[in-house]
Amino acid sequence: MHTETLPTHVARRLETDTKVANLPVYRASTVLFDSLEQAGARAEAVARGERGASTYATASTPTTAALMDALERIEGAGHATRAALMPSGLSAITTLLMALLAPGDEVLVIDSVYGPTRNFCTTVLEAWGVRARFYDPCSSAGDLEQMLNPQTRMIYLESPASYTFEIQDVPAIAAMARRRGLLSVIDNAWASPVMANPFDWGVDASVLPLTKYWSGHSDVLMGAAIVREALWPALWKTQRSFGLCVGGDDAYLILRGMRTVQVRMRAHERNALEVARWLEQQPGVARVIHPALASHPQHALFLRDFKGASGLFGFVLDPVHWRLNPHDHRPEGRQRALLAALCERREHFGIGYSWGGYESLIVPARIDVLRTVRPWREGPLLRLHVGLEDPRDLIEDLAAGFAAMRAVR
Ligand SMILES: Cc1ncc(COP(=O)(O)O)c(C=O)c1O
Repeated sequence: MHTETLPTHVARRLETDTKVANLPVYRASTVLFDSLEQAGARAEAVARGERGASTYATASTPTTAALMDALERIEGAGHATRAALMPSGLSAITTLLMALLAPGDEVLVIDSVYGPTRNFCTTVLEAWGVRARFYDPCSSAGDLEQMLNPQTRMIYLESPASYTFEIQDVPAIAAMARRRGLLSVIDNAWASPVMANPFDWGVDASVLPLTKYWSGHSDVLMGAAIVREALWPALWKTQRSFGLCVGGDDAYLILRGMRTVQVRMRAHERNALEVARWLEQQPGVARVIHPALASHPQHALFLRDFKGASGLFGFVLDPVHWRLNPHDHRPEGRQRALLAALCERREHFGIGYSWGGYESLIVPARIDVLRTVRPWREGPLLRLHVGLEDPRDLIEDLAAGFAAMRAVR
């Protein structure tokens, strides 16, 4: 062998009996075969969507296959499910919707859905010939049944919902959907499988933005769509057609986050509840919206269905206390100044979208542009993600924000 060949030839196989705790990271595009026959057989297995089969890293590598397997066992626990990995939570949602819907179909979507999901429904889905109708987040299964028409194919849920944290009666809605031959799909971002198992509630598919709690460190984007086995061929075909896939390094980071997600979420839950209870006592706070507080309108449903809470919740400023026009929800003038005083220059709370990482975040909600069925009639709404800091430091930080608001003329 000539010297020039050596760099391409050596150090490509590991012959070792050294054992370590973690899986290696497979960085790959090309997948190799021992024979043409094996290549052909693998291609057929990939086309059938068999677990772990790969002809190219877009299908899977041992690292991404390990994460898919983990999702099936944890999010799909006790049910026959399959999981697909996408480069973000949003792409998991959009791919799943395109896989399960077809032109002419109608989907009923919760009004307090994650904003970019709403945007996808009213632009891409609409142009493709799928109609989205939005429903009141507090709709019962009976209310939704009244809305059905012959084109309705799917009910899309999010519980608790984005920004306003309504809890849905998912078991009743999923049972009604099944009885009427419809699909039920849920975004399980808030609870993650640590706090809720939507397949036990009877849904057909769930989405997990792994960017949030499974990552836990605000350093990687990924999403998963998890479906009951019967829906897998449609999801796999759509994902493959779009060429959506994830890399080994990112999959490894999610697997790494998964190892500690349970203890982190219990800490997020504890810290967030402490901050929420403090906020409930503050003059100028009209209402704290946290499903685990007794004051939450669907607290009983929360206790019935969830194993616990995460670190994300909202609170509403009292417009009378802060001398704001209660009918004007645009963040302008005095309202803008008050929100800036509360959110800017905080020691621990960053201003940021996403959530689920170790660090605390605060963000005002543009709720005036987010709801169509039940327009927002209350004061300015803020969303907090409570991280892993000592809640006493977080409370002190928020208290400084309230003091800064009081200084606004
Ligand atoms: C409820 C919900 N679903 C989905 C997503 C999308 O996840 P990603 O940021 O990974 O696209 C988010 C992101 O904020 C979210 O809040």
